[in-house]
Amino acid sequence: MNKKISCLDLQGQHQQVKKEIFEAFEKVYEKTAFSGGPFVEEFENSFSEYIGVKHSIGVSNGTVSLHLAMLVLNIGPGDEVIIPANTFIATAWGVSHAGATPVFVDCDPDTWEIDASKIEAAITPKTKAIIGVHLYGQPYDVDAVREICNKHGIYMVEDAAQAQGARYKGATVGGFGEMACYSYYPGKNLGACGEAGGLTTNNDNHAKHLRSLRNHGCTVRYYHDEIGYNYRMGGLEGASLSVKLKYLEGWNNRRRSIAKRYQTEIKNPKIKMQHKPDWADGIYHLFVVTTDTKDEFVQYLADNNIIAAFHYPVPCHLQKAYQHLGHKPGDFPNSEYLASHCVSLPMYAELSDEEVDQVISVINKY
Ligand SMILES: Cc1ncc(COP(=O)(O)O)c(C=O)c1O
Repeated sequence: MNKKISCLDLQGQHQQVKKEIFEAFEKVYEKTAFSGGPFVEEFENSFSEYIGVKHSIGVSNGTVSLHLAMLVLNIGPGDEVIIPANTFIATAWGVSHAGATPVFVDCDPDTWEIDASKIEAAITPKTKAIIGVHLYGQPYDVDAVREICNKHGIYMVEDAAQAQGARYKGATVGGFGEMACYSYYPGKNLGACGEAGGLTTNNDNHAKHLRSLRNHGCTVRYYHDEIGYNYRMGGLEGASLSVKLKYLEGWNNRRRSIAKRYQTEIKNPKIKMQHKPDWADGIYHLFVVTTDTKDEFVQYLADNNIIAAFHYPVPCHLQKAYQHLGHKPGDFPNSEYLASHCVSLPMYAELSDEEVDQVISVINKY
């Protein structure tokens, strides 16, 4: 019987870095620097250097990073923000938490990223920003989206939650828009030992404002300039991220080589893959395929000890939480197709060559 292979398994990564992380935790403990503080700052500095931006701001998770991005851009009730219909729901939460309305746009049928050619039809006088999502770790067409933003005088924000280290036309994503938002949820390519998130920006004022908003709206302790939030990153999370950041490029490259093997060695006409434009150098946070026989395929994989997952089974516009927006099936057909046909294959840096062989051979026999 084949060995059981899950879509994601965090054990291997954490065994590899356990000693270093525990040493880092000890330092946090000795300094009792549990909330914000030097270990978060150290991570922020190394992350901004890694991305190639001026500022990195650590916060408590990726969802609040999107909320803060909206607040800093003065987006609120009565405003609209364009996002892809096929993303993890938190992209929409960031907009809704600020009191604004998410406006969905369908994805491209081949790249599965936001379809820039459909954005202008969704722009109204209320549109303030577009949040482009580098979904599954593959960049969206940044130049095409940015051109629309410039033409209409609206902001571009990157949701890079799944894309720490992905490159678009050779440049690392995260410095293209007003701000970029990240999740360091444990399952992400760069994941904390706990909940964490962050933002990057080249804008000094945005950085200053973000640092104040995440810390109760104050720059001087106990003097509150505006209504703020407790969205700080914890010291243990920051310390774990500094350790893991040193490995990120290696882990991303391993994911790239596994993806390359899937792309070239899976030869089954029933399986369709995400189209990768030449300018996209993704980090394969997820490796999603589609098939017309999803349920049967997933059962077949399970029978062969391969446990798949689904990202994401319901597109944002058809979620119950957004039923008040009045969408119906058929509004965004490419996103709906993806939702009902997507299957995520095992993808993480610690997959062995033999496990990759097994996934490929099982799929080719389907
Ligand atoms: C595209 C996207 N945006 C935002 C988030 C939100 O991040 P978090 O789970 O850290 O709140 C996630 C992570 O799950 C995500 O995948």
